[in-house]
Amino acid sequence: MKNSQKKRTIPVITKPSLDASDLAFKNNADLENSIVDHVTLYLLTQDELANILVEQPVIEESLEEIQGGIFRLIEASRLTTDIVENDVVLRISGSINRQKSRIESVKWLNQNLVLGKLFDKAKQNYVNIIKKAEKNNANHFNQALESQNKSTHIITNEAEYISFTTNDYLGLSNHPHVIKSATEALQNYGNSTCCARVAGGTTPLHKTLESEIAAFLESESAVLFNAGYLASLAISEILDKDDAVICDRLNHASIFDGIKMSHAKLYRFKHNCTKSLEIQLKRIPKEKNKVVFIEGIYSMEGDIAPLPEIISLVERYNAYLFVDEAHSIGCLGETGKGIFEHFGIDPNKATLRMGTFSKSFGSIGGFVVGRKLICDMLRYSSRQYIFTASLAPSIVSGATKAVSILNSSPELTKKLQKTSKSFIQKVIKAGFDVGNTTTQIIPIIIGDEEKACRVHKYLLEKGIYTTSVIYPVVPKGAARIRIGITTDHTEEELEKLLGTLLQMKYVLNNFMRI
Ligand SMILES: Cc1ncc(COP(=O)(O)O)c(C=O)c1O
Repeated sequence: MKNSQKKRTIPVITKPSLDASDLAFKNNADLENSIVDHVTLYLLTQDELANILVEQPVIEESLEEIQGGIFRLIEASRLTTDIVENDVVLRISGSINRQKSRIESVKWLNQNLVLGKLFDKAKQNYVNIIKKAEKNNANHFNQALESQNKSTHIITNEAEYISFTTNDYLGLSNHPHVIKSATEALQNYGNSTCCARVAGGTTPLHKTLESEIAAFLESESAVLFNAGYLASLAISEILDKDDAVICDRLNHASIFDGIKMSHAKLYRFKHNCTKSLEIQLKRIPKEKNKVVFIEGIYSMEGDIAPLPEIISLVERYNAYLFVDEAHSIGCLGETGKGIFEHFGIDPNKATLRMGTFSKSFGSIGGFVVGRKLICDMLRYSSRQYIFTASLAPSIVSGATKAVSILNSSPELTKKLQKTSKSFIQKVIKAGFDVGNTTTQIIPIIIGDEEKACRVHKYLLEKGIYTTSVIYPVVPKGAARIRIGITTDHTEEELEKLLGTLLQMKYVLNNFMRI
């Protein structure tokens, strides 16, 4: 074998450490003089290639020539089988086992593989944060769980973890009565109604759940939605372009999405700051409909809205109040009825409240509670209610059982509150920044996104599964590890978490890198 025909691997373009030599393939000499047994191509978008050219003035060839070079290589390798589309970086690998050959045709293998400007928005986070996390082997966002027969334990194909990611705060998702109830409904009604609520998708189970949740929350009526997300969309969308909605800055995305869809004018106030809320209320012309939209417990902060002060402003400025109680129902108040019970305020001071079955009720689906007339109107106007198949009867039945368990077991809520408070004190004492939480949601605020992913990975390696929360879920630079406490966590598990956080802090302080 001639020297120039030695088998070898050609790294054609590698990312992200591109330099001029990485682009040495451009004259094809390497390829043409070698028998190549493996080639790995990282294809970049046209924009990125353009950037490389700008950053690397040593490269004389035009953009077209570089692109042509890449695609000549693809042609040469006939590597059509293993195309993994990785958004901006497309990786193609395979073998070339043939003698030198001249490649005549230069054509795009698949024009669609090169992403254009259309994907710029989707690309931002993916490239800036996720790709970096992947490089550190710290991207957990798509991890599949092999089994989860208890929300506090997660088994993946790699290991078993104590989990603090769950929102199953009262451990009801695996409660034997919930499972029995869901199983019976599955047997009686099948897997799905395959119909919208308004067109054959309403079973007696749906109606029962609506009346049970309304009764539990001391409200006149309730409407079910397929997710809490859809419930918040639905109530935000009630508004129209002439209305004004004043939102806490940290409200959930579903609320902002609904407002966008309604075209109402959006005003934001500083998180939990009644001064800022009042400034906004003053700005809005008197004759406008005004809705103040808040949450009970904030999902990434764990703090509670200052409801009494907010209600006095709502009354003074003649506004309506909408409250998202996704994380407060089951967790606040003597009997888990949420933020109104926590403050001893009549819940009907809110025009509408929404919640979800996907947290304390251990199920899935959302709901809105309020006056019967408003709920009935929602059934005939809400696109999120009308244009989608209804919740599966088994889900509905399991959720109904969970409501009844919560109704008869206020000790669950009390236990959650006690455990959370005591753990917060310990974490603060250990020197962590947990913001203003006083509840079962405990943010360990890290700041930098990549660092948060690495901390998350460190905890994983120690057998602890948490959530790293990064932009756009929280503002940029406010990345955190989110701990969710549940009634199922044992003392030992909480101690292990605390101990591992302390170790992590030590490593972070002393070695900078995890
Ligand atoms: C505050 C808040 N509202 C609404 C939702 C949406 O609920 P679901 O997961 O049921 O769609 C969430 C979910 O995380 C939430 O945190």
